[in-house]
Amino acid sequence: MAKILITGGAGNIGSFIADQCLEMGHSVVVVDNFYNGKFNNVKQHLKNENYSLETIDIGSHEMVKYVFDKHKPEYVSHQASLMIMDSDKFPEKAIDTNIKGTFNIINACAKSGVKKLTYGSSASVYGNPRFVPVTEDHPFDNRTLYGATKIAKEALMHSWAYSHNVPFVGFRYFNIYSERQGLGAFYTQVFQKWIHAIYEGREIIMYGDGSQTLDLVHSSDAARANVLAMFNDEVKNEHFNVGTGIETSLKEILSLIENLLGKKAKVKYVESDPHLVKRRCASVKKISDALGFKPQVTVNDGTKKYIEYLLEGKI
Ligand SMILES: NC(=O)c1ccc[n+]([C@@H]2O[C@H](COP(=O)([O-])OP(=O)(O)OC[C@H]3O[C@@H](n4cnc5c(N)ncnc54)[C@H](O)[C@@H]3O)[C@@H](O)[C@H]2O)c1
Repeated sequence: MAKILITGGAGNIGSFIADQCLEMGHSVVVVDNFYNGKFNNVKQHLKNENYSLETIDIGSHEMVKYVFDKHKPEYVSHQASLMIMDSDKFPEKAIDTNIKGTFNIINACAKSGVKKLTYGSSASVYGNPRFVPVTEDHPFDNRTLYGATKIAKEALMHSWAYSHNVPFVGFRYFNIYSERQGLGAFYTQVFQKWIHAIYEGREIIMYGDGSQTLDLVHSSDAARANVLAMFNDEVKNEHFNVGTGIETSLKEILSLIENLLGKKAKVKYVESDPHLVKRRCASVKKISDALGFKPQVTVNDGTKKYIEYLLEGKI
């Protein structure tokens, strides 16, 4: 049984990593400041003796050191981050959490001899892709502060892996969604915000003709990629795309939601925003070859589950 510390463990991806590690018989320490985390994502474990919750901010070097000294984790999965819209709104906080916070975590991993660190980067490092499916060697073409912090994170990971012997695996997540996601995140604009708006009879906005695509991955699959990498000694100091390789257009997402909810959306069509990424589609060859990773949740099943939770009043 190993001890695994998960930053952002009350959030969307981190809470699934916690569940999967507990199911495997490991013990879990969740670190989260509940900026976008949900009590619903942690409450079922609070009486489990293999589960600890530390409500701290990873931007504080002292608090991170305190938690590592107290729990002495063997593995770490670092998912805590400010999301894209919040990073635009609060740039200083984005630097404190995404860059300084990441440095605090890697540094603590180095000092305590952590065996493997997995963490969340983003497909936003690629910007508007020059080709699809996007392979991991696609050039960085980021235009956002959030993406800049992800590129800085990747550079920090590489430098510390070699200079301080912290083996890492980083994941460039594509469009991650689940019933556990906080409503503040940018990615929720299309998927969750549309579901909630259509359900409540509110208008939704469609930019352009709806041909823009997403590569939608359920958070439980993104979590599985982390767990696979954590315990694979052969794979280290690499970045992988986490996607399905399947593009779903906004038009398709809209009709899927309408069918599952049994309601017609009120759609306001506006001119396409030139800053929006037009296509997201991951090449999944590298992650499939190295980790044997294959997504298990289809967009249809994932959306159905989200809507079931919504109708049961769980969201
Ligand atoms: N959701 C997506 O589509 C997506 C896409 C690409 C990359 N990512 C990356 O994946 C990772 C996990 O994303 P998610 O979807 O689970 O997001 P999330 O917002 O659900 O989870 C992040 C968690 O980190 C916590 N947190 C934020 N700032 C913190 C701080 N200073 N100290 C401690 N905890 C803090 C939040 O409260 C939240 O629970 C992040 O690094 C994110 O940038 C997500």
